[in-house]
Amino acid sequence: MEQELIQENKKNGSKEVEQKRKRRELKMEKQEKSIHDLPGVGAATAEKLMSVGYSDLMSIAVASPSDLVDSTGMGIALAKKVIAVARSSLDMGFESGEELLRRREKVIRLKTGSKAFDSLLGGGLETGAITECFGEFGSGKTQIGHALAVNCQTVDKDAVAVYIDTENTFRPERIIQLAKGAGMDEEQVLKSIKVARAYNSDHQMLLAEKVEDLIKKQGLNVKLVIVDSLTAHFRAEFIGRGTLADRQQKLNKHMHVLSKLADRHNFSVYVTNQVMAKPDMFFGDPTQAIGGHIVAHTSTFRIYLRKGKKGTRVAKLVDSPNLPEGEAGFYVDESGVKDVE
Ligand code: GTP
Ligand code: MG
Repeated sequence: MEQELIQENKKNGSKEVEQKRKRRELKMEKQEKSIHDLPGVGAATAEKLMSVGYSDLMSIAVASPSDLVDSTGMGIALAKKVIAVARSSLDMGFESGEELLRRREKVIRLKTGSKAFDSLLGGGLETGAITECFGEFGSGKTQIGHALAVNCQTVDKDAVAVYIDTENTFRPERIIQLAKGAGMDEEQVLKSIKVARAYNSDHQMLLAEKVEDLIKKQGLNVKLVIVDSLTAHFRAEFIGRGTLADRQQKLNKHMHVLSKLADRHNFSVYVTNQVMAKPDMFFGDPTQAIGGHIVAHTSTFRIYLRKGKKGTRVAKLVDSPNLPEGEAGFYVDESGVKDVE
């Protein structure tokens, strides 16, 4: 009898082990599935998808059918099927609030150099999110970008900043000044900033997508991606009312690529944006950000910068998912972005 019980327990025990093993295998199978394993996707289509940047299942799962049609020339029905299969082979359903909270714990906050500015954002620019600064010329947007590119390197020894420069305003000399101001090794700081000049809006969009290569192929620990300016090329290239829809569609796509990558790789995105005069406004500040609703809705945090008294600057948080509106004063000097005394 006793012998039988032991035997039975053993059997149950090994059943449990077996079940666990099966579950683990299934999970690994799901993770390891590549584009080549998708049913109904021939080798040629898979190659095509890979060649235009859909290198893993996640990138397909979050794409829209028209994205796939445009970039590969496949039929819409096949595109829909490929996306559906990619989605079902990944766990993409709901997450519990608890899981989300655990994910939020991974958020790092990057520092501007001004404590007041950082607290306005709950302690600094969040990773996994897009922070937009908009304001008139000389309001400090580019200076903040430079300061962040330097300061973000303090969060990890191998942290890297990516600077997509559309207006030719990135200055390595300025980085050296700021690194000195922060007491950091200037040479190392410069080495850890990857700069690319974007010559037009298409090039800018492509560079944003290429950030993933820096992470996956070169193994860089990207903590910050700066796009300065986000909207200048779009504004210059799409002139007149008739082209507005096209411009917004492209900007939307660009912002979504940035947002997706920020989320997937837990880096912070900092974008700058100009303002335009709004002559039909009689009260309040007669300026508004370029890019309209698209940029406004895709940015997680939005900050309006304006010039204050005696060379100071004022940052106003105008949109945030979890923080109250507020203002902070700061100024820019040779050593960086500083608090007003
Ligand atoms: P646009 O790109 O023209 O729309 O402006 P922006 O908002 O990017 O302005 P930017 O960040 O270039 O700010 C320029 C201001 O920062 C200058 O007017 C200076 O007040 C200040 N500034 C820029 N560089 C330095 C510097 O090296 N030393 C000091 N002390 N101040 C600087
Ligand atoms: Mg600028």
